[in-house]
Amino acid sequence: MKKRSLAILALFLALSAGVLVWRAEHDDANAEEMGLNALAPFAAEQAVNDAAEWRERRAPALRAAFQAEIYGQIPDLGAARITARTPIEVPALRGAARVEQLEVVLGHGARRFHLLLVTPPKAAGPLPVIVMETFCGNRASLPGPATNLAASSVPGECGSGMMLPLVHFILGRHISTPPIADIMARGYAIATFYPGDVAADGEDAIATLEQIGGAPRAGGLAVWAALYSRAYDVVAADPRFDPARIAIWGHSRHGKAALLAGAFDHRFAAVIAHQSGRFGASPLVSGNGERRDQILKNYSYWFTPALTETSPLSVDQHQLIALNAPTPVFLGNGRSDDWSDPAGSFEALRGAQGAYALLGSRGLAQQSRSEPDYADDLVYFQRGGGHGITPADWRAFMAFLDAHLQPR
Ligand code: GCU
Repeated sequence: MKKRSLAILALFLALSAGVLVWRAEHDDANAEEMGLNALAPFAAEQAVNDAAEWRERRAPALRAAFQAEIYGQIPDLGAARITARTPIEVPALRGAARVEQLEVVLGHGARRFHLLLVTPPKAAGPLPVIVMETFCGNRASLPGPATNLAASSVPGECGSGMMLPLVHFILGRHISTPPIADIMARGYAIATFYPGDVAADGEDAIATLEQIGGAPRAGGLAVWAALYSRAYDVVAADPRFDPARIAIWGHSRHGKAALLAGAFDHRFAAVIAHQSGRFGASPLVSGNGERRDQILKNYSYWFTPALTETSPLSVDQHQLIALNAPTPVFLGNGRSDDWSDPAGSFEALRGAQGAYALLGSRGLAQQSRSEPDYADDLVYFQRGGGHGITPADWRAFMAFLDAHLQPR
């Protein structure tokens, strides 16, 4: 009897889980119903019919609108120059990687950031590279203590000491530290930095943003997007690395910045935007996830001052993804990460598909959210659970990178 009730309970749970997954996959409006089509008429313009129209007419109009209405002007931060190189010892890596930190000065020297280069000691170059922006600073990107690396200022939510296990429990084991040994074993280098070195992630960024200027004035995300490009310059100039195989990676707020960077700079070999949410991959018209007023209440400094709760928007986020075309884009998602709108983000990929197809790219072939094909140029990955970075996420990031950056 007991066994039978357990079996019934198990069946009930399995069915409800199945229904929940089915609902999550099928209940939301799709791209067509939401009007997400990057090629459709835009502002006073006709629909786009070929690659030349996309490149010469539509893409410049969209870039101008995203800067004017949402992010502000992507700033010219000046040329990047390496002014110091420090070798770093990380005993916990047990020889799996060589680590050095570069001090990178921009333009006339008013701004600088620290790029941590992590390279596999044995792989033959020139190597593919993952350029990462992180929340917690370079020290937190490494597993365990490091010599020669001064502790940088670490944002509160990164946790420290006793808080770290709790942070890992909630946000996943890799929230601050990527699986370095695995990445090295697969023959990739990592170039990681904390973009808050240049524009802080807080209200105190405003003074810096005002100095950086632009017309309209850059928000923090525009500065972080520009920093992906400056990091690219530094990495691409180093003969150990392959300029044609440099991918950018960002989680959440940095996922927003990565999509924005990829929309303005086509040198990246791939863009990974994990759980990028509002003003990342989630379309405003989906009506899911973080609202515009919510993000502006806490993070208005990420945007140009022209963006308000009610300012008119002529663009939506499928067009930002489309501006990345033909660069391969990967969107990572957690099924219960409602704040980041996993369902809407899939529809945004569908809405971007037309631009990829026009440019002769394979774009999105996957039919449902649960069946990623990593060799597509638009890839949607979803695992169970919420906001954070887990081993399953890194397995998916690497499968996507292998499909696009490794010779077959
Ligand atoms: C907040 C913010 C999100 C952002 C996230 C993150 O939750 O509201 O828009 O994506 O932080 O960066 O983790």
